[in-house]
Amino acid sequence: MPDDPVSPPGRPSPDSGTAGEFGFRERLFGAVRRRLGLAVIRVRNPRVDFGARCDVRKGGSFLVANGAVAKFGPGCVLDRGITVESRGYLEVGAGTVFGHHCTVAADQEVVIGERCLLAEMVSVRDHDHAFDRDDASILDQGRVTAPVRIGSDVWIGAKATIVRGVTIGSGSVIGANAVVTRDVPPGSIVVGVPARVVGQRGGTPS
Ligand SMILES: CC(C)(COP(=O)(O)OP(=O)(O)OC[C@H]1O[C@@H](n2cnc3c(N)ncnc32)[C@H](O)[C@@H]1OP(=O)(O)O)[C@@H](O)C(=O)NCCC(=O)NCCS
Repeated sequence: MPDDPVSPPGRPSPDSGTAGEFGFRERLFGAVRRRLGLAVIRVRNPRVDFGARCDVRKGGSFLVANGAVAKFGPGCVLDRGITVESRGYLEVGAGTVFGHHCTVAADQEVVIGERCLLAEMVSVRDHDHAFDRDDASILDQGRVTAPVRIGSDVWIGAKATIVRGVTIGSGSVIGANAVVTRDVPPGSIVVGVPARVVGQRGGTPS
């Protein structure tokens, strides 16, 4: 889950309700900080389309090529140190949350649905380096691409990697450290390297 930099250190403040909840001042300060922060981020990254109330935290890197698209729907959270690259089409639906130090990179097309939860250090890329030839270095062989499509309400565990060409159906759960190399049917639970279906949300076994 993303860290909250407005969290008060130590004990809750006197005007907070129950222990662990934020008081009115903290919430007001957090809302103002997020709104000002978003205004600054928008000015610094004019090629990224951030929807209303996006919460973009420190240390993010946004590289968007001329003519490429990178857009985040309203209410997305981009925790610390995210890397976003687009040389093609990158779209993220409303309310999706990225944990710290995620990477999302589109050479061709990456589409992520609404209200997904990507834990820390998740990598989503639609490209690989080409390496067919052995008479030239990999660096000189360009890249191969295939679209990545992730539905809505998908939870991707920490440090998982989603490789090019994969479609993940809505409502799926991807285990921590999984490497997803094949399509995932909606509502599946997948784990491992390479990721395999081990269950179905709602309890029906695979
Ligand atoms: C996938 C996960 C959600 C568990 O789902 P689950 O349906 O409860 O699965 P189970 O615990 O019943 O495990 C099913 C099998 O998959 C294995 N498994 C579970 N998680 C795994 C993982 N991340 N990698 C490899 N194998 C895993 C279990 O050992 C078990 O194997 P077995 O049947 O041989 O014993 C959980 O293990 C996980 O990876 N959570 C992500 C944690 C995380 O990143 N949190 C960040 C917070 S945003």
